Amino acid sequence: MAAQKIIIDTDPGIDDAMAIHQAFADTRLEVIGLTTIFGNVYVNQATRNALWLAEQGAYKCSVSEGAAKPILQKMNTPSFHVHGAQGFGNFVDINPIGKADPRPAHVFLSETIRANSNDIILCPIGPLSNIANLLDYDPDIVNHVKKVVIMGGAVYVRGNVTSFAEANFWNDPHAAEKVLAADWEIDLIGLDVTSTIQFPPNVFLEGGEKSPIIGGFILNISEFYIKFYEGLVGKTVCLMHDPAAIMAITDPDIFTFQKVPLSVIVEGEKVGNVFVCKNLERRSVNVAINVDIKAAQKRFKSIFSKADAALNKRINS
Ligand code: BDR
Ligand code: CA
Repeated sequence: MAAQKIIIDTDPGIDDAMAIHQAFADTRLEVIGLTTIFGNVYVNQATRNALWLAEQGAYKCSVSEGAAKPILQKMNTPSFHVHGAQGFGNFVDINPIGKADPRPAHVFLSETIRANSNDIILCPIGPLSNIANLLDYDPDIVNHVKKVVIMGGAVYVRGNVTSFAEANFWNDPHAAEKVLAADWEIDLIGLDVTSTIQFPPNVFLEGGEKSPIIGGFILNISEFYIKFYEGLVGKTVCLMHDPAAIMAITDPDIFTFQKVPLSVIVEGEKVGNVFVCKNLERRSVNVAINVDIKAAQKRFKSIFSKADAALNKRINS
């Protein structure tokens, strides 16, 4: 079967880096592009990090820089305390050689998606500003995207930046509202499931042993992230937010979904909160409400055990 084409819209970010390398290593996927967004870091750093990840993975995909700020609200400070000063924990040796595509992310997305009409799954794992800009720039794009699989929101559980809001929705609530209101198929992989996928350090140790280059890098950056979660949840674990979105594309069978229309609160105390809005006329979203955690861990381990083999194959091809 042909690999599923995807574009990842990302603010790398430790769990973003995990998700991107997971997608590079999974032969069921073809990553056509990475579009960058502010969030965990400023957008120029997100672009450097995305270029560097693609070069580290010897992966031929375009990188295109997106929005530097939210579509309406004031920009929040990036989450340096969660992801480190440059986004990869204490790892700062980030020196990409290549350059980003000259087109801004929304233009790159519009042209690339149209050139592959109904073949591309768009996977945003950062604030949704680029996707909102895409809808403004090219409203008919909803008829050319195969599906949108989003990491963001917390529908039935508490948030992670405030008790109401998850980070990606909180960083650009107007964009999240616009994207959820559009007439396209959306899978929402929010904290409802991603917070339950808590991997212990041995998952990363095993990846580092089996794939010293890619798995070793993931092991290195996981340490900073795990320290943050130790302080937050009181356990030595890594919450696998962004990798869960990639897994929802490759392994949807391990998730349970519920179909409901959603809306986002755009200002006030509950800003960024996403809620079920049965009174508004809009297309229902497939909200992930459960995941088989053991299966997720098994599949993640199996991908990373082969990550260096996949890398060597790309280098030698
Ligand atoms: C989301 O926020 C970011 O910090 C992570 O990369 C993830 O996309 C989790 O709330
Ligand atoms: Ca992210």
